[in-house]
Amino acid sequence: MFDRALARARRRRWIARISRDPRARGPWWTEILAGVALSYTDCCYVEIGVEHGTSISVVAPCCAEVHGCDIADRSGGMPRGARFWQMSSDEFFERYDGSPPHLVFIDGDHAYEQARRDFDNAVRILAPGGTIAVHDTSPGEDETDHTLERCGEVWRLEPELAGEKLTFRSFPGLTLVRPG
Ligand SMILES: C[S@@+](CC[C@H](N)C(=O)[O-])C[C@H]1O[C@@H](n2cnc3c(N)ncnc32)[C@H](O)[C@@H]1O
Repeated sequence: MFDRALARARRRRWIARISRDPRARGPWWTEILAGVALSYTDCCYVEIGVEHGTSISVVAPCCAEVHGCDIADRSGGMPRGARFWQMSSDEFFERYDGSPPHLVFIDGDHAYEQARRDFDNAVRILAPGGTIAVHDTSPGEDETDHTLERCGEVWRLEPELAGEKLTFRSFPGLTLVRPG
């Protein structure tokens, strides 16, 4: 009896999450992130670098728990129910006290060293079987001449990322990693 009620509740929640408002769609990488979030039951999502909230607003409806970190005050771009952490990503990873995230999206400071550190810190707090998504890993040839602009140096990190890995090469690139 209880099992049947639980199954019904889960089905309703699943339907609610896939019936997202079509106006709440975003650029191609946000749809991939939303799909990955849906693949986890009660996904806990962390986004490093929120800016206007474009990505976090698309992914949040697919999640049970959402955290956004930005060094600037980006609280206005946060979706309802999500927790905003205004601080550097280094401090965020030190202080984080939420559930182990199933999905971490790294899109903060685009300098190589910082992106590397964000990735290593994300591995430390990730839930077992979780995924780390790194943005701006495929800027195209022209972009590599303009490091620290737009995609920064994150493309340098991509070949180093170990684990089960998939890189979408469409501009500006998205790499999904399940660390080994
Ligand atoms: C490219 S934007 C993020 C866009 C957002 N992820 C999206 O897809 O809609 C980068 C953001 O990272 C923030 N940022 C830069 N350095 C940071 C740091 N060290 N820690 C946290 N956030 C940082 C910036 O303030 C900016 O809002």
